[in-house]
Amino acid sequence: MSDTWLLTEDRVWPERVPWKESLFSIANGHLGTRGTFEEGYGDSVPATFMHGLFVTPAGDLPYLAPLPDWTGVIITVDGVRFGLDERLPAGYERTLDFRTGVLTRRVLWRGTGTGLLRVEFLRLLSMADPGLASLEVTVTSLTDDVQIGIETGLDGSITGPFGAPWSRVDWKRPKQDRLTMRAQSDDGASVTASCVVRGLGPMGVIHHARHPRLTATLDLAPGEWLRMVKHTAYRRGADAPELPDTGFEEVAAASSSEWSRRWETSHIEVPGDPFAEHALRFAAFHLIGGAPRNGEGAGVGARLLTGYGYRHHVFWDADIFCVPYLTMTQPDLARAHLGYRHRGLPGARRKAAQYGRVGAFCAWESAGTGDEVTPDWGETPDGERIRIRTGEIEEHIVADVAWAADHYHRWTGDRAFLDTEGAEMILDGARYWQSRIEMDPEGRGHLRHVIGPDEYHVDVDDNFFTNVMAAWHLAAAVRHGAGRDDLAGRLGLEPGWSQELENLARSLRPMPGPNGVFEQHDGYFALDQVEMSRFEPRAAPMHYVLGEKVLERSQITKQADVIMGLVLLDDLHDPDLIGANLDFYEPRTDHGSSLSLAMHSVAASLAGRPEDAYEYFRRAAAIDLEDSMLNSNHGVHAATQGGLLQAALVGFAGLGLGPGGPETRPRLPEHWEALGFSFVHGGTRHEWEARAGKPARGDKAPRADHDGGG
Ligand code: BGC
Repeated sequence: MSDTWLLTEDRVWPERVPWKESLFSIANGHLGTRGTFEEGYGDSVPATFMHGLFVTPAGDLPYLAPLPDWTGVIITVDGVRFGLDERLPAGYERTLDFRTGVLTRRVLWRGTGTGLLRVEFLRLLSMADPGLASLEVTVTSLTDDVQIGIETGLDGSITGPFGAPWSRVDWKRPKQDRLTMRAQSDDGASVTASCVVRGLGPMGVIHHARHPRLTATLDLAPGEWLRMVKHTAYRRGADAPELPDTGFEEVAAASSSEWSRRWETSHIEVPGDPFAEHALRFAAFHLIGGAPRNGEGAGVGARLLTGYGYRHHVFWDADIFCVPYLTMTQPDLARAHLGYRHRGLPGARRKAAQYGRVGAFCAWESAGTGDEVTPDWGETPDGERIRIRTGEIEEHIVADVAWAADHYHRWTGDRAFLDTEGAEMILDGARYWQSRIEMDPEGRGHLRHVIGPDEYHVDVDDNFFTNVMAAWHLAAAVRHGAGRDDLAGRLGLEPGWSQELENLARSLRPMPGPNGVFEQHDGYFALDQVEMSRFEPRAAPMHYVLGEKVLERSQITKQADVIMGLVLLDDLHDPDLIGANLDFYEPRTDHGSSLSLAMHSVAASLAGRPEDAYEYFRRAAAIDLEDSMLNSNHGVHAATQGGLLQAALVGFAGLGLGPGGPETRPRLPEHWEALGFSFVHGGTRHEWEARAGKPARGDKAPRADHDGGG
């Protein structure tokens, strides 16, 4: 592998195009654009998303709407349309530079009967100006006199898998080189896009109702080139956004310096293992760009801004997999997500009320508000309709959100967050558990009828993960609620609440079995044991192979469940305990979710098994980089990327908070000399290097203070 800062490809694989579009996506914390070819391609899925701009079709669920498209450019050469599906290129390379966020594509191409051309595309979403998208196209004639036709504009006719979002599209041409388009949906969402096109001389316009284009025709002699620069700006609502007067280079320079600032605290290097270094930089690039940078009515979506997967709904993927890494490196982004969770409290309260309970019952899937938007029905691969019950009973989400808030507060020391939002979120969630836990006559608390992370077992009692997380949450509420009786009273907690929560927390604690293995849920040990190796090799998850009914009666678990609990809760960090549970659960775990492998990697590190941890890490990295689950065409998996970064920092480096602040306990794979990384603690940037067997602290002095703290 060459430069680990780059994602590259040197040929077009037709069947891989939609997957690569996800990987080559760019984003700037506000907008995200899939890596589609400007000229279009077969079953390509072009889309630019804006955080928080959800559209809800009548009788359907919200999804993040594709904005009027800015990327499309139709190029003709002597009347022949430029396109890579028509005629394979004579030369091709595409590069996404994680340092600058610039996506570059260079193509050598000859159409039927035309001369040879070099076409170069550069595009970016500005990190410095979040509404701004810029594109530069250079066409050079290499062999012949050619006539080049160019058309580019704003495409409001865009549709995605959930239909065409914009029922009303109006546009105008305020100046010779500009177009402005306002798009509105039936449910009142709207966006205005403006673009300016420079470098083509006098332009005409194609008056398409939903896809107006500026057009120009230019003659090129051999060796001559034309360069078009197009800036597009987006703004929510009806006001036209501002456009820059500058060229592509100036926009790129400003954006690139913002990326450098981001990389200061997300630096990661693995000397001697370019594969791992590249995977981690890829992960950080997508998380930094894909997490919302401010309160735009959006949290971190399950596929970031890279595809339509899960309609951009927000799951625990954000809180447990992405926010911890962001907290440690980009605290403002973690804070923005937690702000979204706080704004979602009214929706979470509505959901609790709907089930006859009180407090905040967070949505399993949420969109623009905190209301539940999990679909009620889904389809099996055989087309059978099945009920989806996660929105009803996958309740650990309540504790996951609180865990993220607590983790953020511990790392940043952001007291203002706790005072204004954090304590309220944590206490109101605890109040939910208070109204939810059932006590038996022996004084043991139960959470019956739940789904744990292992979604192959629906409607189970006392799921380990749910119970330990709820117990942790109740105890955390007591800690964070101390001295906040006013807030507690406002939330409806009655005097003596803290003692009651403490008792409830104690009542839920599960005990390990005699060999140290925790039972995943009540009755799990009695289920059928299935030898999964019999079904190898396979790419499909086991529920496709065996069907839901068989799985329900078996011990096959979809993903880390007990293992997740052991990873998240510091007081369960006993290497022998984790080792015993890994030995028991690994042969029973399908890793049928993209969340699973990275967490097994962290667990294996905590158990002192770095080589196993590396193998899990490698497989987790393959989920998107090799499309090993065959679904990355719907977008890059946020949780996988966040999980990989945690596997490096929390797992291999063993980074955690001790009584004196950050500390490490490195457990590096044999072939790693070192792991270098930066992070932020309490507003100060640190740069450390972990080496096998010795704590990283002090190995490398912190470079400079950084104001990225909370
Ligand atoms: C997983 C969930 C996850 C969701 C979104 C499901 O397949 O089982 O844990 O939250 O996908 O990524």
